[in-house]
Amino acid sequence: PFPEFARLREVDPVHWSPAMKAWIITRYDDVRRITLNNREISADRLTPFFKANAEFQRGGIENLVRYLNHWMVFRDPPDHTRLRRLFNKVFTPTAVENLRPNIESIVGMLLDGMADKAARGEAVDYIADFAYPLPATVIMDMLGVPRADLRDVKVWSDDIALFIGTAQVAGNKYLRAEQGARSMSAYFRGLVEARTAVPADDMISRLVLARDENDALTTDEIIGTCILLLFAGHETTTNLIGNGFLYCMRNRDQWERLCAAPSLAPSAVEEWLRYDGPSGAVARVAAADVAMHGHTIRAGQRVFAFVNAANRDPDAFADAEAFDLARDPNPHLTFGHGIHFCLGAPLARLEAQIAAVRLTERFPNIRVTSAVPDWHDSLILRGVKALPVALAS
Ligand code: HEM
Repeated sequence: PFPEFARLREVDPVHWSPAMKAWIITRYDDVRRITLNNREISADRLTPFFKANAEFQRGGIENLVRYLNHWMVFRDPPDHTRLRRLFNKVFTPTAVENLRPNIESIVGMLLDGMADKAARGEAVDYIADFAYPLPATVIMDMLGVPRADLRDVKVWSDDIALFIGTAQVAGNKYLRAEQGARSMSAYFRGLVEARTAVPADDMISRLVLARDENDALTTDEIIGTCILLLFAGHETTTNLIGNGFLYCMRNRDQWERLCAAPSLAPSAVEEWLRYDGPSGAVARVAAADVAMHGHTIRAGQRVFAFVNAANRDPDAFADAEAFDLARDPNPHLTFGHGIHFCLGAPLARLEAQIAAVRLTERFPNIRVTSAVPDWHDSLILRGVKALPVALAS
């Protein structure tokens, strides 16, 4: 998509896409402006969708409506402020840093698993064997979901994703998503009740305890946010660790630079985020008419602020097309901007940094064996489906 982004940035920075039925914003300054304008540009893209598709409600998607409506990423102030305040309290940099030993141990376990598979002569897929299970296990551990339940939660999560994503499946995907939401919310309700009775050392317990001082959050809101964290923290991070690795393999000199100096990992991860980040765009709906570059974005119209296009804007980044693991400064917009700035950014960064360091140590000679990777069919969730690798030369 990058040549097309470059063309739009240059000649049509506020572009109406008939296919997406939305405005496409591609310049760095404009993406920032859209994400800062919470008065005229709303993050609530659910209410218009539910209104326009009333038949879904009649078809019975009440659980999806009930829990997704509590996702802070879809709320505007003052609801957003209230929801985010409690999570800021429990999702602190210290809380994330405390996860380091667990992340190290999961990374070690997965790398061992890859080495064992290779030793047995089995095919190793960097995505299925590493980039996918790492964030899924970290986020479930953090929430306090027992590992024995991972498989069930994953099935419900994939079903809910049918509602949010663009996947085409046989049958009624909204009803499957609704069943996922029903099972998932019942599951988290059980966990919230269990942790209310007997707190443990996990995020749900901390939320339940924090609620005493700040009684504003309902149990439904906590359940909704647990489902959001599971979602937001999972595929995005897989794609960060996947895309970053893929570009290192395509730019072998940069990989070797990282192998020689693991202290480069923090800036390397920022470049992974910038170069082809997992969150291609953030979506909004105009709440009022907004004028931009000679166009009028009408109230009610959808807007996609393409952070991946903004991240290659030559007006914001020197040598923007170069993949440079030591780039400094690197003010990319991959975690969004403004009040919705990604709550999980410190966690995603930590996971990717540990992954980068341990991968270079363990498998400096790793290579991708497929010629052309198969990308997911989405500009919004940008990532590859599989990356077969050989671990040593
Ligand atoms: C919000 C990207 C990982 C939780 C966002 C937004 C972006 C983003 C672009 C803003 C969306 C908007 O403005 O509409 C990413 C990327 C990640 C990542 C690229 C990984 C590389 C995580 C993780 C978690 C998380 C690990 C949690 C464990 C959230 C939450 C929000 C959010 C709760 C909503 C914040 C709000 O609305 O105030 N993320 N995210 N994200 N992210 Fe992330």
